[in-house]
Amino acid sequence: MSACGGAYSPEVRRRYFITGPQWAAAYEGHALFHAPTRKPVGFEDTIREYARIGIGHWCTHDTDVIPTGALGKDGQEEIVARIRKALAEHGLECSMVTTETFHHAVWAASPAAEAPEVREYAAWRLANTVKIGHELGAKFAVYWPGSLGYYVQGAIEETQTLAWYAEGLNAACEADLKLAARHGRPTLKHCMEAKPFEPQAEILLPTSDAMLSFIASGLLTHPEMVGLNPEYLHELMWGAAPRAALARALTAGKLWHFDINDGYRLKHDVDIAVGLVNPLDWLNVLVLLRSHGYNGPFNLDYKPPRTTSNHGVFAVSFPTAVDRFITLWEMAGEAIADPVIAEATAALKAGGGVKDTRDAEAIVAANRELLTLHELIAHRMVQILIGQHRGRTFSV
Ligand code: GLC
Ligand code: MN
Ligand code: MN
Repeated sequence: MSACGGAYSPEVRRRYFITGPQWAAAYEGHALFHAPTRKPVGFEDTIREYARIGIGHWCTHDTDVIPTGALGKDGQEEIVARIRKALAEHGLECSMVTTETFHHAVWAASPAAEAPEVREYAAWRLANTVKIGHELGAKFAVYWPGSLGYYVQGAIEETQTLAWYAEGLNAACEADLKLAARHGRPTLKHCMEAKPFEPQAEILLPTSDAMLSFIASGLLTHPEMVGLNPEYLHELMWGAAPRAALARALTAGKLWHFDINDGYRLKHDVDIAVGLVNPLDWLNVLVLLRSHGYNGPFNLDYKPPRTTSNHGVFAVSFPTAVDRFITLWEMAGEAIADPVIAEATAALKAGGGVKDTRDAEAIVAANRELLTLHELIAHRMVQILIGQHRGRTFSV
C-alpha cells in the first residue's frame, strides 16, 4: 500500500457506509473448474480484519456462519452469540443478513419448487434469517433467488413459480413485522437482487427491472417493505448500462442497497473488485448516486482473485478496493461541483432559445453548437478521473 502512494486511514474509511460480506473474505478461489487456492476464513478472523482495515459493517448468509443442520437449533444461538461478541469487541455493526437459497441440494428445484415441503422449508429459512438479523442488529435483508429458474424448459410453469416465490417473501415480511415489534426495532428493508444468468440456465427474475415489476405485480402482501439490491456487475452482465438501471430503481424509490464490484459485459459473474475494469463508468455511477442523495450501504460483493493469497486478501485486496471506492466517491463530488460541467449542463438546459417550437429546422440550428458540449462533458469526466483537470499532463 505504501508503495502505491499510501492509503486512507481506518478512521476515514469508517466514515463511509461500506459493508464487507463474510463470503467475500472467505471465498477460497474455487469454482466449477477451479480447485480452492486459499484456506477457509471464519467470521472471527473476518470481523477482526475488517475492523483493522476500517470496514465498519459486516454482512453474511445464514450458512456462511451456521451449518445448514444447526439452523434453528441450539447451535444457531451459540454462533449468533459469538458473532455478537466479535462485532462488539471490534466495534463493527452487522448491516445485512441474507439466506442461502441456491447452494444446498434442497434448492435443486429452487426455493419455489413444486413440492410444498420445499416451499415451507424456504419460508422458514427466510423467517429464521430475519430473526438472526434482528438479533444481530441488521437493517437490511437481501434476497438473491439464484436458483429461481430452470435448465430444461416446459417442466415448470413460470407464473405459478413466481406466485410461489412471492409466498416466501410474504412469509419473511410477516415474520419481520412480528419480530420487529417484539424487539422494539424497525422492520428490515427487504432487498431483492437480480442476476441475469447463473446458476440456472434460464432465470425467472433476471434483472432489477424484472424485480421492480415483480414488486409491483400484486403478488406481494407488503410491497412497501421490499426494494432492490442491484449489483453493478449483474446489470452489466446482461448488457445494461448499470447507471441507467440504477436510475430506474431510484425513480421507483427502490434503490436501498447496492453491491459494488466490476467485470465485463456478457460474461459470467467474475465479481472483480470495484473500479478495476470500468473506473470511468463507476465514476459516472457515483455521480448519479451522490447527486440523488443515496445513503444506503455500498457492499463489497466481489471475490478476491484466486491469485491473491490468504494474507493478500486483507493486506491488499480489501483495503485497495475500499480506497478505490472512496477516491471515486470523492471524485464524484468533484464532478458534481465542477464549474466546466456545471456551465455546460446549464447551457444545454437553457436550450437554443427558439421561439417557434414548431419549426424543427430552427431548433436544430439553434442547438447544433450547444450539443457539442456532450463530448466536452465526457472529456471533462475523463480529466477528473485521471487528474488532468488538476494539471496532469505529459511532456511531449
Ligand atoms: C451470493 C451471490 C451474491 C449475492 C449474495 C446475497 O453470494 O453471489 O451476488 O449478493 O448471494 O444473497
Ligand atoms: Mn451480489
Ligand atoms: Mn456477482
